[in-house]
Amino acid sequence: MASKYQLVDSKFYYDNSDVPVNKFDIKDAQTIHEIEKELLEEAYNIFFNELNEQTHFDEAYFVSLHKRTFESLYDWAGLYRDFNMTKGESRFCQGEFIKSSSRKIFEELKADNYLKEYASIPKSAFAKKLAYYKCELNALHPFYELNGRITRMFIDMIAAYNGYKFIDYSQISPKEYIDSAIECVQFADSTALEKIICNGLSK
Ligand SMILES: Nc1ncnc2c1ncn2[C@@H]1O[C@H](COP(=O)(O)OP(=O)(O)OP(=O)(O)O)[C@@H](O)[C@H]1O
Ligand SMILES: [Mg+2]
Repeated sequence: MASKYQLVDSKFYYDNSDVPVNKFDIKDAQTIHEIEKELLEEAYNIFFNELNEQTHFDEAYFVSLHKRTFESLYDWAGLYRDFNMTKGESRFCQGEFIKSSSRKIFEELKADNYLKEYASIPKSAFAKKLAYYKCELNALHPFYELNGRITRMFIDMIAAYNGYKFIDYSQISPKEYIDSAIECVQFADSTALEKIICNGLSK
């Protein structure tokens, strides 16, 4: 089984592959990656164009990013997992606590007015906040798959709302990126991610 995750009695990936079972029954990894890429690009355009003062970066919005981006491909788009999941040495939020932990994160974000007032605040302060919430969502890892992409899109939409470009992660290596996620999940430490976000954030 090539699956990266420990999944409880469900056939989530096709046998001997890491391609999730999908609505078109596509089993070729490269084809599925290309479709996911196209759907994500389309979603970036749609969600960017939809941004307005009424946009609240709340839990419903976060879940809708996952659902609307991938529902044409996957039945589980927009659904939280209820089983435990690990990656490498990292253990994400336990399945039974996803809903309550998610509520807590988004209550905090609401108290921060969904980070909607950072257009004229120093970039470093904004980067610190974005890293904090990205770290929390990394540790939550609420969806079956596509957590990285949807969490980045969520953070990108908050950046865009405040007049910034989407965050540029191209200057760091995949290892640096994963290491920063490991710090989040295993040590609740967002300092490495904060640096990455601060460097990748520009108007
Ligand atoms: N060993 C690890 N420990 C902690 N977090 C990890 C680890 N490996 C990956 N991650 C996190 O999990 C995310 C990948 O999750 P998932 O596969 O659900 O989403 P994805 O959209 O396919 O990922 P990506 O596009 O980021 O590769 C990464 O972006 C990172 O945040
Ligand atoms: Mg993945």
